[in-house]
Amino acid sequence: MDSMYVIGLGITIIIIILTQIVSKSSSKQNFPPGRKGWPIIGETTTFVSCPVKFVVDRMKDHSPDVFQTSLAGETMAVFCGPAANKFIFSNELKFVKSWLPRSISKALAQQNSDPTSHSFKLADQVSHKFLKLDCIQQYVGTMDSMVQQHLDKFWVPFEQVKVHPLAKEFTFELSCRIFVEFSNPSLQVVKQLRDPFFEFIEGIFSTPLNVPGMPYYKALKGSKLVQEKLYEIMSQRKKKLKLSDDDNHDDSDLLGRFLMASDEHGTCVSKEDVARIIIGFIFASFYTTSTTIAFVVGFLSKHPQVYEKVLQEQMEIKRGKGPGELLTWADVQKMKYSWNVICETMRLRPPATGGYKEAITDFTYSGYNIPKGWKVHWSAYSTSMNPDYFPDPEKFDPARFEGSGPPPYSFVPFGGGPRMCTGKEYARMETLVFLHNLVTKFRFKMVNPNENIFYNPDPVPAEGLQVYLQLHTN
Ligand code: HEM
Repeated sequence: MDSMYVIGLGITIIIIILTQIVSKSSSKQNFPPGRKGWPIIGETTTFVSCPVKFVVDRMKDHSPDVFQTSLAGETMAVFCGPAANKFIFSNELKFVKSWLPRSISKALAQQNSDPTSHSFKLADQVSHKFLKLDCIQQYVGTMDSMVQQHLDKFWVPFEQVKVHPLAKEFTFELSCRIFVEFSNPSLQVVKQLRDPFFEFIEGIFSTPLNVPGMPYYKALKGSKLVQEKLYEIMSQRKKKLKLSDDDNHDDSDLLGRFLMASDEHGTCVSKEDVARIIIGFIFASFYTTSTTIAFVVGFLSKHPQVYEKVLQEQMEIKRGKGPGELLTWADVQKMKYSWNVICETMRLRPPATGGYKEAITDFTYSGYNIPKGWKVHWSAYSTSMNPDYFPDPEKFDPARFEGSGPPPYSFVPFGGGPRMCTGKEYARMETLVFLHNLVTKFRFKMVNPNENIFYNPDPVPAEGLQVYLQLHTN
């Protein structure tokens, strides 16, 4: 017992001395104030367990503009506030470039591609164009009919459902249809990809130990299987394209567009790049849109007067449609109040904690030096709960988004600048179309209005957000 005590005391003293050395050398070189935490793991555990508290506490303790920490084994400067957001978004490729921890980019199959290749550039061009509003808006009707089928099958027969797991299944199916296999509504592809994808997604943020049995090992295995299945699907589609007399034309989904694309050098998109983008898109939409849907349901259940206003807006749109007529992009544009409700939900429960970059040169911000190689994190939490931009920040109040809305760069759930989320319009359409169908079909009440939230590091309802359902009678 005594020797354990002495060892523990010794370790504590060494850490205190190391922390002092680090903070002294930091202050000499005028790095942002902050602490690095434990060797190797740094402050990762504290950050992941509650990113909002992590950021708000450190803004108070160190600096409201920028502080340093250590996350995922990297020294990181966390940029805070609207001015910092503007600075990061405006200096992409001048001071910073996008960055992901190696463990995550490996699981996302990003390391199989060569970023300098023609195929890589072509794949990025095709996929960016695909998610642009003028292309993606053609899928509103498909989203609508898929939501209806999903609700009829998994919600209508039940008095009680868990919203978050259902929203995840729906989001996954939707991405498979729009990105991989549009023309086959029976979605064979979902059956092939679902289990390995869910295994991959469950372990991607875990400790990166590639040892059999560990969640990260399973994530890599799942990712590999998804890649292989995608390669198979691609080669079958290629064969079909060759056989079709339709001028080899198939732009029904993202995969079809990849298979048809070629650039001025005659380069086509490689199978590795197809997998990289499709896995990236399915991953990027998975938690973000499903948690947004779940938390919207939670807030509407707690705020009946907001629910009534959303219902009124959505019923007006529904009354304008004929029987069986699907929603269109013009209908989505009318859902202004509902979008304010979704924005207020994303303010209180940001579906993505922010973005990660790497300093590509030495630069200064707010009087502090950021050396080349440091990682940079802009955090949605540094503004979303700040009473200077959102008075009474804990209050759920969609009216904040009326008129000119919050001050510039204070509400940035999708980031900003050249690396802003390319899936923003897709996410807007999916969440609004889902909300339309939900409120025009049901009233709902949370089974546990005090349900906890845990972070992974994005917020997740701890009990899956369980609600009682009541079908509208007319
Ligand atoms: C509520 C839903 C969503 C939220 C809140 C969200 C948020 C974000 C954020 C914060 C970033 C990082 C921006 C940065 O690094 O500065 C991002 C990047 C990205 N998102 Fe989303 N996202 C959502 C849905 C989607 C969907 C549905 C897709 C695809 C269909 C998608 C695709 C992407 C891609 C490809 C990037 C990387 C962009 C780039 O680096 O050029 N996102 N998203």
